[in-house]
Amino acid sequence: MSDSQSERLARAYASIENRVGAPCEIALVLGSGLGHLADAVENPTVIPYGEIDGFPVSSAPGHKGQFVIGSLFGRRTIVMQGRLHLYEGWQPRQIALAVYLLKRLGAGTFVVTNAAGGLNADFDAGDVMLIEDHLNFTSTSPLIGPNDDEIGLRFPDQSKLYDPELRQLAIDSAARTGTPLRRGIYCGLNGPELETSAERRFFRSAGGDAVGMSTVMEVIAANHAGMRVLGLSAIANAATGGPDQQPDTIESVAEMAAVCGEKIVGILEDLFPRLPAASA
Ligand code: HPA
Repeated sequence: MSDSQSERLARAYASIENRVGAPCEIALVLGSGLGHLADAVENPTVIPYGEIDGFPVSSAPGHKGQFVIGSLFGRRTIVMQGRLHLYEGWQPRQIALAVYLLKRLGAGTFVVTNAAGGLNADFDAGDVMLIEDHLNFTSTSPLIGPNDDEIGLRFPDQSKLYDPELRQLAIDSAARTGTPLRRGIYCGLNGPELETSAERRFFRSAGGDAVGMSTVMEVIAANHAGMRVLGLSAIANAATGGPDQQPDTIESVAEMAAVCGEKIVGILEDLFPRLPAASA
């Protein structure tokens, strides 16, 4: 069997092609504590990752590991209910393969959500942050290795990684729905251990507003494949690393991410019908 990404992609696609129905427009990745957003999908077709040829099966707590395909807020959407993290041991190229499959299934817009710690002292747990840009602190990339020209460029531009038009639409939707929306830079790390307080102060000084263990591999791959990207972070805990820094637990992070999830649903409900039809 070939090791090329486009060969793997072709096999993954062939294994589910006849189950997915009409092409999807939007891909939505659900972060920790946000999995219930998939319940809003109408007439869902559910495909567990284990039934997709060559697909990794996510094992993170609170992540189900399945595609949910159907209509979400009036748009044909494929939801990743359960994402793949580097800390689970997945290779960056495996994470990218999942994203390329979303594109292959028709999605031209990639909407990513995550739970994150707030590095910015102005942020509170329970806030939602629009991702304006990211800092990749994982020391790796899903594009390392031979490039597959059928998928994307060898050296893709990332100067406008989080699509400015989509960001403005999200800002408008937040305003229309009366949802306060923070904006900032997401720092992506490997995890699984949380950051030391010194690391958190360092990431803040480097320009980060929020810190988490996902998103950057997926977004690099989505941009590589020509998708337009929108990102929203659920600020689940304060992560300033200051003298009053409190210890974090996965339980409290999941609880606060669920609070943010309600706000994110409100924004997406207004936003989805307004998202431009993908031209990618
Ligand atoms: N750090 C990293 N990942 C996270 C955090 C955090 O403080 N909160 C939620 N995900």
